[in-house]
Amino acid sequence: MHEKIIILDFGGQYAHLIANRIRRQNVLAEIWSIETPLEQFQDKSVKGLILSGGPQSVFEKDSPKCDKGIFDLGIPILGICYGHQFVTHTLGGKVLPGKKGEFGRAEFTHNKQCPIFEGVPEQSIFWMNHVDEVGEPATGFEVVGTTENCANAALWNREKRIFTVQFHLEVTHSEYGNKVFENFLNICGIKRDWTMERFLEEEKKRVKTQVGEKNVFLFVSGGVDSSVAFALLVEILGAKRVKGLFVDTGLLRKNEVEFVEKSLRAIGADLTVLREGDRFLENLRDIYEPEQKREIIGHTFLDVQKDFFDKHDLHENWLLAQGTIYPDTIETGGTAHADKIKTHHNRAPQVQKLIDEGKILEPIKELYKDEVRALGELLGLPAELVWRHPFPGPGLGVRILCSAEKLQITNDELPMGKVDAFTLQKDEKPFITLPIKSVGVQGDFRTYKYPAILKSSIFNLQSSATDATAPSRLQELEKLSTNLINHYSDINRCLFLLDTNFEGNIREILLNKKCVQQKRVEILQRADDLVMRVLHEMKLYGDVWQFPVVLLPVSFNGTGEESIVLRPIDSVDAMSASVGKLPWEFFAKVAAGILQDEAISAVFLDVTSKPPGTIEWE
Ligand code: XMP
Repeated sequence: MHEKIIILDFGGQYAHLIANRIRRQNVLAEIWSIETPLEQFQDKSVKGLILSGGPQSVFEKDSPKCDKGIFDLGIPILGICYGHQFVTHTLGGKVLPGKKGEFGRAEFTHNKQCPIFEGVPEQSIFWMNHVDEVGEPATGFEVVGTTENCANAALWNREKRIFTVQFHLEVTHSEYGNKVFENFLNICGIKRDWTMERFLEEEKKRVKTQVGEKNVFLFVSGGVDSSVAFALLVEILGAKRVKGLFVDTGLLRKNEVEFVEKSLRAIGADLTVLREGDRFLENLRDIYEPEQKREIIGHTFLDVQKDFFDKHDLHENWLLAQGTIYPDTIETGGTAHADKIKTHHNRAPQVQKLIDEGKILEPIKELYKDEVRALGELLGLPAELVWRHPFPGPGLGVRILCSAEKLQITNDELPMGKVDAFTLQKDEKPFITLPIKSVGVQGDFRTYKYPAILKSSIFNLQSSATDATAPSRLQELEKLSTNLINHYSDINRCLFLLDTNFEGNIREILLNKKCVQQKRVEILQRADDLVMRVLHEMKLYGDVWQFPVVLLPVSFNGTGEESIVLRPIDSVDAMSASVGKLPWEFFAKVAAGILQDEAISAVFLDVTSKPPGTIEWE
C-alpha cells in the first residue's frame, strides 16, 4: 500500500490543484469527499490531511463539514482558506463574516516560530481569495503569521500538529506555496514515490477497461491537451484504433488548419478535417450572451460529430474521446460545491449527458497543464506541440465580444490621467468604465462586470518606448488594478490604454451592436497573427504562458468600429495568472501594427490578474 496524503474536498476549484502540487513532490495525493467515514482515515497509509478551500462560508446553514474525529487521528493537518476557517470554527475559535473580501496578492510576514514556514523568507507574497476571516483562534492555536488585512493569517497548534493558513498555498502566485507543502510533507514523514510513469501505467489499465473492444474517435484541436490525449490513446490502443477528427470551426487562428494537419500527421495521426466554418457562424448569428455562445458552439461541435458518425455509421463500435483537462471541468461547476463560472465546450449539457452514460473517454481529465506537458514529453511529442500556448476550444468565438445594443456616451469630464494620484480614500472614481461586460472570477464565483480604463503618466507610450523598467511598471499597474477592483464593485478588470487611432483624450465612446461575424473574425485573426509573429520575432513566445487577443465592439471619438485588448498571461496552470511582463518595445510595436487597420480605434493592455479577471475575455 502506497503512503498517501488525503485532501478533503470542501468544494470549489482547489482540491485538484492541491493534489497537483503534492504530486509534483512525488507524493501520492488522493481527494476524498467530506462525507468519508472516519474509519477510512485510520488506515496506516494515510500520512497527513489537507483541508481544501471552498466557496462557502462557515455561517451558511449547509456549509460543508467533515467528521470532527479527524482532529484526534494524531496525523498532521493542513487547513487552507475555508479549511483554516473550518478548523477555527469547529474547534471553538471565532470566524468573522467579512464584508468586501480580499482577492489577489498579499504581503505575508511570519514570526519564524513555525516549522511549516522553514526556509520561507520572513516576508513574502501569498495569494488571497476570501471574504470571511478568523477573528480569534481556537484554544491551543497560536498566531504565526499575518498580512496587512488579515491579523490571523497563519495559525499553529503545536501539540496536535495542525497548521492553518488563510491564503492559497496551491496557486503559483503564492511565492513559497510549494515550500510550505514540502515542509508539511516532511512533517508527515511520507515517502516520495509518485511519478508520471506510474500515472501512465495506471491510465493504461483504466483506458483499456473503459474502451473494451471498441475504437476511439477524438476531437483534436492542435492544442496541447488534445494532442497529448491523442498520443496517449495511440500509445495504449495502437494507431489503427484511434481516429482524429479536426473541426475547422471558422473561429481558428490564421493558418491554424494547415499547422494542425501538418503536425498531427507527423505523429502518425489518422486525421479527418471537417470544414464547418459557415455552419458555426450561421448558428452564432444574432447571439450576444457569452454563455449562449459557448452552448451553441458546443452543440454545433456535437451536431458536426453526429453527422459524421451517421454518415460513416460509426455508432456501435466507437467511443468518443475528449482531451478535457482538470481546470475545464471545475470552472463549469463540475465538482461538488463548485460555482459555475462558465461552460466549457466539452461540458455542454449534451456532452454531459454522454459523459453520464459512460460514452465519453477523457484520459487526461485529472491532470493540470504542467502535467499534461510532462506526459507529452514522456510520450515523445515534438516541443512545438507540447509547448504551444493554450487555445480555447470555442476559439475566437469567445474572444469576439458582442453587444445586442448600440450606445453612445459623451462626456467632456471623463477623469483620465488621475490614476497616479489615486488613493483608496478618494471619493471620485479615478477611471472610466467601458460599457461592455466580461466574465471574471472573484472568491470562486463568476462575475460579469465592466472593465475600467486607466491612463496614467506612470506609463507613457511615446516617452518610454524602450523603457527597460516596463516590467516593474506593469507590476505597479497590476497592483493598482487589484486595489481598484477590491474597492469598486462594478468592475472586474482594468485596462491600460496603449495607443489609439485618435489624438488626445477620450471624448466619446460608442458601443456598436455586433455579434460574431466573418468580417470580425478576420479583423481579430489579423491582430492575433501580428501579436504571434512579433512574439516569435522578438523571441518572446516562451516568456508568456498564453496571449489572448480580444476584439471589443467599442470605438472612440468617431474612429473605427472595434478595439483590441492584449492579454499577455504569466501562469503555470491557468488557475491563477498575472500579467505577462513583456518589454515595452513589444507593446509599442504591436499596438502600432494593429492600428494600421482602420477598423481599430484603440489598443488596450489588460493589467488584471486572475482572480479577479479570468484569462479569457468573453
Ligand atoms: P479562464 O478564462 O477561465 O481560462 O481564466 C483558463 C484557461 O482555460 C482556457 N479555456 C478553455 N479551453 N475550452 C478549452 O479547451 C474552453 O471552452 C475554454 N475556455 C477557457 C483558457 O484559454 C485558459 O487557458
